[in-house]
Amino acid sequence: MKSVNIGICGLGTVGGGTFNVLRDNAELITARAAARLQVIHVGARHDSPACDLAGIRVSRDIFEVARDPEVDILVELIGGTTVARELVEAAIIAGKHVVTANKALIAEFGNEIFALAEKHGVEVRYEAAIAGGIPIVKALREGLAANRIEWLAGIINGTGNYILTEMRDRGREFADVLAEAQALGYAEADPAFDVEGTDAAHKLVILASLAFGMPLQFDAVYTEGITELTTQDVGYALELGYIIKHLGIAKQTDQGVELRVHPTLIPDDLLLAEVDGVKNAILVEGGAVGPTLYYGAGAGARPTASAVVADLIDLARADVSARLPALGVAIADLRNVPIIPIEKVKTPWYLRMEVADKPGVLSRVASIFSEQGISIEALIQRAPGQGQTLVSLIVLTNKAPQGSVDIAVSEIEALETINGKVTRIRVEALDG
Ligand code: HSE
Repeated sequence: MKSVNIGICGLGTVGGGTFNVLRDNAELITARAAARLQVIHVGARHDSPACDLAGIRVSRDIFEVARDPEVDILVELIGGTTVARELVEAAIIAGKHVVTANKALIAEFGNEIFALAEKHGVEVRYEAAIAGGIPIVKALREGLAANRIEWLAGIINGTGNYILTEMRDRGREFADVLAEAQALGYAEADPAFDVEGTDAAHKLVILASLAFGMPLQFDAVYTEGITELTTQDVGYALELGYIIKHLGIAKQTDQGVELRVHPTLIPDDLLLAEVDGVKNAILVEGGAVGPTLYYGAGAGARPTASAVVADLIDLARADVSARLPALGVAIADLRNVPIIPIEKVKTPWYLRMEVADKPGVLSRVASIFSEQGISIEALIQRAPGQGQTLVSLIVLTNKAPQGSVDIAVSEIEALETINGKVTRIRVEALDG
């Protein structure tokens, strides 16, 4: 039986998990790969107490792994985009396949990295970069290969989803829950990446390129985080029959592709609305298959290792003629589809404003919507509390472009009878 030699760079949570899953499941992995997958070289700044490195070459300089002529596949698990990019490129140039869990690296530099890999006849695999253990890359690239993907919508940041779930179920405030998510080890090194949407944007870009066969365009994603959400809005959404989720949405339209990450009201009877806590899920609408939903652990040592090892098994099994293009089609066949500017993207909207409890206020607000061609779907107005002069007015609109909503909101905010800013959150029915 052939042996495939593996070098692992980075022995943190995912590196340690990968090392141990390879060891714990060695027998079944060998059977499935029809090869012995052997870790022969580890590059890490420190040893890990969770890993028995006896008999394995260990280098403090990770580039030693890329230079090791005996390593067939380099596993990059150091994170970041500077050293990680140099390492991955060095390995490719040295003729090694690469497996990575690094979403930022692929989203921001994937075009260059994949082109380099194609030139050197090696593969770069990245299943673990998106939604941890969920085999979504395999689903899009292989399982759904017969479909024209119409759109996909995903809960692809576990930390954000955990925060929203706690706010909804326990009425807890944002900062309080974030501190807990950090303590539990779900959050990124810089938690701003989680709560401001960058982490989800990285993952969405990769999903969109796989789904639509286009180059990775991280700079084109419209990104909004969850930092402005309040328990009040979470509660009003519930009353209207919606759950607020932080979604990454990629949609193919006649004008181009929508690429956006933002809080979204979704109907509370969708399966996606029931994805709570740190779990991830991606809903994919395939032209032939219809909607399919992929659910599971989006982070953590062993779930992410599961995806890394699946890539290793695939690489060990494939022969050169069976190489899979990184984004499903050869780089020369990627389509340069325009990304639709966010101002032109049409969705229904949830809008909340604090208004004076006086005659004529509602009709003035309604006429501003009407002047912008925005139609109102539903409306809630609460009676003012004792001694209060302001009331919350919640409006659910029909589909309207962000550009018209921007104008309406700025006119409403300029009214003397309105207090403060208008809160606005997009709504998605996700029904085809
Ligand atoms: N910080 C990420 C999350 C980890 O919370 O989903 C997995 O990418």
